[in-house]
Amino acid sequence: MLPSGKPSCKVFYAKDPLKIVRAQGQYMFDEKGEKYLDCINNVAHVGHSHPYVIKAATKQMELLNTNSRFLHDNLVQYAQRLTATLPEKLSVCYFVNSGSEANDLALRLARQYRGHQDVITLENAYHGHVTSLIDISPYKFNQLGKDSKKEYVHVAPSPDIYRGKYREDNPDPASAYAEEVKKIIEETQKNGRKIAAFIAESMQSCGGQVVPPVGYFQKVAEYVRAAGGVFIADEVQVGFGRVGKHFWAFQLQGEDFVPDIVTMGKPIGNGHPMSCVVTTREIAEAFGASGLEYFNTFGGNPVSCAIGLAVLDVIEKEDLQGNAMRVGNYLLELLAEQKEKHPLVGDIRGVGLFVGVDLVKDKEKRTPATAEALHLIYKLKEHQILLSADGPYRNILKFKPPMCFTMEDAKHTVETLDALLTELEEATGMKTENNASTNVPCKRKTTEEGSQPEGASESIGHMNGAACRQENGIYSKKRSVPSKRIRT
Ligand SMILES: Cc1ncc(COP(=O)(O)O)c(C=O)c1O
Repeated sequence: MLPSGKPSCKVFYAKDPLKIVRAQGQYMFDEKGEKYLDCINNVAHVGHSHPYVIKAATKQMELLNTNSRFLHDNLVQYAQRLTATLPEKLSVCYFVNSGSEANDLALRLARQYRGHQDVITLENAYHGHVTSLIDISPYKFNQLGKDSKKEYVHVAPSPDIYRGKYREDNPDPASAYAEEVKKIIEETQKNGRKIAAFIAESMQSCGGQVVPPVGYFQKVAEYVRAAGGVFIADEVQVGFGRVGKHFWAFQLQGEDFVPDIVTMGKPIGNGHPMSCVVTTREIAEAFGASGLEYFNTFGGNPVSCAIGLAVLDVIEKEDLQGNAMRVGNYLLELLAEQKEKHPLVGDIRGVGLFVGVDLVKDKEKRTPATAEALHLIYKLKEHQILLSADGPYRNILKFKPPMCFTMEDAKHTVETLDALLTELEEATGMKTENNASTNVPCKRKTTEEGSQPEGASESIGHMNGAACRQENGIYSKKRSVPSKRIRT
C-alpha cells in the first residue's frame, strides 16, 4: 500500500477479491471450486482454455520459437488470413504484443505519414497505458487534474446519443458530432498546428459502451484526411466478430468506410499476449521511408502466429460470429424488457456480444446510478455471475463475455439481474413497473451440469434508507451468500 492509501494496481471486487484457478469456455472456477459465469473477459474470445488453441500453441512451442528476422510460414499465413478479413486497402501488418504497443505504433505511423503531430481523440476514450496513450486518453488523463491535457491533444465530444451533446432527438447526430471534429480541425489550423490523426474505438468501451451513429466515421474521416491526418480505428476491445454482423466493428458504419489504420489486441490471441496494426501500403511506405528500422523482439513470433491462426480457425469453425449475433440479439431483447420494467434501467445499447446497461436514478434527468451499479456487480457475484461497471460515471453494466456465451447464459443473467433490480428498487423506494419477478432465480442451468439449485433470494432490506456505504457503493457489509452453490 502506498502512503496515499491508494494502490496503483487494483483487482476486481476489491472488498472480496476472487482467486480464479482455472477456466473453461465461459466459466471460471475459484480455489474452492465455485463456478462463475464470465461476462467480463473479452480476451478469452473463443472461450477460456480452448483446447484447439492450446494444442496449436504447444505444437509450435515444441518445434520452434524465434523472431521475425527469420522467415517463417506462420507469419505469412497469419498476415494473409488476417488481411482477408479486412477491406483490400488495409494490406500491411505489423505484429506487436499488446493493445498499447499497437496504438503507440499507430501514432508513429500517422505522424510519419505527413509529418504532423496533433491528435484528435474522443471524450472518455482509453487507448492504452504507455505515456503516448495516456496523453490521448481522457478517461485517464482527466484524473490527473485540469492541466493534464497536452497541447497537441484535442478532445472531441463522444458520439453518445444517450448522454452526449447531441441525443436521439437530433435529426442527424452523425453530422452534428462530425461537425464538432471539423470545428476542432479548423481551430487547430488557425493556431498553426497540424492534425496527424483522429483515433477512436469503433465502439467506445471504457467510455461507456457507446455505439457511434452510422455515417459519423465517414464524415470525420473526410475532414481529417482533408487536413492531412489519418483515421485510426481502435478495435482492441471490439474486433474479431464480437459485433456479430461483421468481423470488425468499424464495418457497422457501412461498406463505404475504411479506416487508414486498424489496431487490434485483447481477443487476438485468446489470452496470449499479441496484437497487430494493419495499415495501407502508402502509410507503411512512408514509415519505411524514415530510414528507421522497425524491429520487435516478440512481435510476430511463430508461436504467437500459430495461436492467432488457431483463434481465427475456431471463430470460423464454431461460427462464433454467428453466435455473437444470435445470442447478442437475444440478450438485447431480454434487456429491453428490463428497461420497460425497471426505473433504474435508463438505456440499453450495444451490438452482438458487446452490450451496455446504463443505470440511472432518474429516467428523465439520466442521473447516473453509480452506487447502484456497484451494488449490483457485487450481488451478481454472489450469484456467481461476473459483470463489470464502466463508463465515465461507472454506472454502465458492461457485457463482453467470451463468444461462446449461450442463450441460456443470457437468460440466466438477465433473470438474476431482473430480480436484483426489483429488490434494489423496492429497498430504495423506486417503483418497478411490473413486480412479476421479485425473487432471484433459484435454479441455474449450466451447460456442464444441467440445472442445479442455487441460493434463494436474500433480502436487501438493509438497503432502505440507511444504506451501508463502502467506497462509492451501497452494498451491505453483511452480504449474504446463497445457501447452496454449484460445486464442481
Ligand atoms: C480500447 C483499448 N485500446 C487499447 C488498450 C490497451 O491494451 P493493452 O492493455 O493490451 O495494452 C485497451 C485496454 O484496455 C483498450 O481498451
